[in-house]
Amino acid sequence: MLRTSGVFVTGTGTEVGKSVVAALLARTAAGAGRSVAVFKPVVSGLDEGGEADHELLRRAAGSEQSDDEIAPYRYGAPVSPHLGAELAGEAISPERLRGAARAAAEGADLLVVEGVGGFLVPLTLGYLVRDFARDLALPVVIAAPPGLGTINHTLLTVEAVRAVGLSVARVVFTPWPQRPGVIERSNIEAVERLGGVGVEMLPRLDLAAPATWPALAVFAN
Ligand SMILES: Nc1ncnc2c1ncn2[C@@H]1O[C@H](COP(=O)(O)OP(=O)(O)OP(=O)(O)O)[C@@H](O)[C@H]1O
Ligand SMILES: [Mg+2]
Repeated sequence: MLRTSGVFVTGTGTEVGKSVVAALLARTAAGAGRSVAVFKPVVSGLDEGGEADHELLRRAAGSEQSDDEIAPYRYGAPVSPHLGAELAGEAISPERLRGAARAAAEGADLLVVEGVGGFLVPLTLGYLVRDFARDLALPVVIAAPPGLGTINHTLLTVEAVRAVGLSVARVVFTPWPQRPGVIERSNIEAVERLGGVGVEMLPRLDLAAPATWPALAVFAN
């Protein structure tokens, strides 16, 4: 669907490190001299303050995209996109999202997209994050916490991604603890073997200091 190469970052749920992983992918590519555009279909929870996802992504990519160009739908309440739209008295248009993602990618070497919540989160009750990812046809990176419970959540997400014909480029365990225990270390092998996918371990980053971030390059195309 897009002429630009890119990556779609999803996660095993909400607050699992998607933004951190997407920011690092964007930063890595930008650091290698590529022009990077970023996209996030819906941002919610702006009322909670702090740096919003589209702001972090823009900063990491060194992009000059506007808020609207990165995230066409933005809501104050920390709720699912379909509910955020309902509370704002509007409807999210899949066509507008596809057009905005295409426009963001135009002229860039790489598009980094962050999903919203987990892979089956509704953008509308008839159009899920999964459907948007499928429409963009980008390889998928899955952010996941490294500890207890992650095998099931990660494998469910791997299956859901592959079920719509998309490839899973990598699973990223984040934040990877300084002293991983037996569970965390065992989870790497379990997810790699059962999911047939490579796992990266991402230590805790100082988000304010991108110059200190390690590289993370996982592009399948
Ligand atoms: N490697 C890491 N380094 C620093 N902080 C991390 C790391 N991984 C996760 N976190 C922290 O975990 C929390 C959730 O991360 P993040 O905001 O990236 O999740 P998300 O999946 O994008 O959430 P949302 O569903 O709200 O978009 C944040 O406070 C983030 O700073
Ligand atoms: Mg996020």
